Amino acid sequence: MKPLPQATPDRGARSPRRAITALLGSCMLVAGQGIATLCMSVSQAYAQTPIVIQFSHVVTADTVKGRAALKFKELAEQRTNGRVRVEVYPNSQLYKDREELDALSLGAVQMLAPALSKLAGVGGSDFEAFDLPFLFPDHAAYRRVVDGAIGVELLLRLEPKGIKGLAYWDNGFKVFTANRPLLAVRDFRGLRIRVQASRTLLKQMQQLGAEPSISPLINVFEALRTGKLDGEENTPINVVSQRLHEVQSHLTVSNHGYLAYAVIVNKAFWDKLPADIRNTLEGALRDVTAFENSIAEAENTRALERIKSSGKLSIYTPSAQELAQWRTALDPVSLAAQSGIRPELVKAIQVATRVPP
Ligand code: LMR
Repeated sequence: MKPLPQATPDRGARSPRRAITALLGSCMLVAGQGIATLCMSVSQAYAQTPIVIQFSHVVTADTVKGRAALKFKELAEQRTNGRVRVEVYPNSQLYKDREELDALSLGAVQMLAPALSKLAGVGGSDFEAFDLPFLFPDHAAYRRVVDGAIGVELLLRLEPKGIKGLAYWDNGFKVFTANRPLLAVRDFRGLRIRVQASRTLLKQMQQLGAEPSISPLINVFEALRTGKLDGEENTPINVVSQRLHEVQSHLTVSNHGYLAYAVIVNKAFWDKLPADIRNTLEGALRDVTAFENSIAEAENTRALERIKSSGKLSIYTPSAQELAQWRTALDPVSLAAQSGIRPELVKAIQVATRVPP
């Protein structure tokens, strides 16, 4: 784990102004005509110093999240005429899961898009509602939840912790991969399966008789390759972009859980931005969010096709009857109770997704 850099006020919106003040102060002291001119041009150069937004994430640049982060960079820089520069750091180049949230709180980076379950540590267990298996029948149902009152209310819970939630980005439904066939619930028994840091996902795997193991995504390939892990769950996009299908022999298209993100920023940084810049960035983010959410489902289908055509592992799609058995073994209501997710929230989600409670 890299040491976290100190909070860097120079990186934020205030830095150009501070630098200019300091420069002008020293210029006054030596104010000969030529030096004054020089000082003016130096201060003008500083006045154009862009506001830097460091955007860190843990997946590769060619995933839907990676592409959306780059599109945000493009639109933000274009629409602010270069007054903002966005530096995107993909694939845990800067920080892994938990570290990146600490870095955001310290102001060492300004923007992230972590999986919702990773926000439970700052916003409370309810964020893990998105990890509950078989809660969302399809993408549209998930979108109804995050685009409605539930989505708004959850993001507000981050604010007392100095984090502002700006948008929800999709990934999609998760599949299981392993080094043996996963045809039925009993096949999980004894397997060491990687999950994201989430109490709900730990309980989900225990309920299946597996031994869950939490690790950052960037470490999963090596752990599967060396046999430290037997399997994992993720979306086809994440499986293929991390090359996990190359070190697994079986994949089950279980579509049992949903993976989605919140785009979050350091609130102090965001609030101090000049209002015109903030509005422009929010407009850019709205457009990028629409783009991200419009490609996610098709990109997962494409990723699954790529995995199939690689011929590296055998793929199993459970029947409706088999899936009904998985659903019984992974009852979301009982898992929610074990993980401290409010039953009212689970009910509200079920209503919004129109699954009978
Ligand atoms: C994971 O840890 O598997 C995912 O949350 C990674 C991601 O950001 O999609």
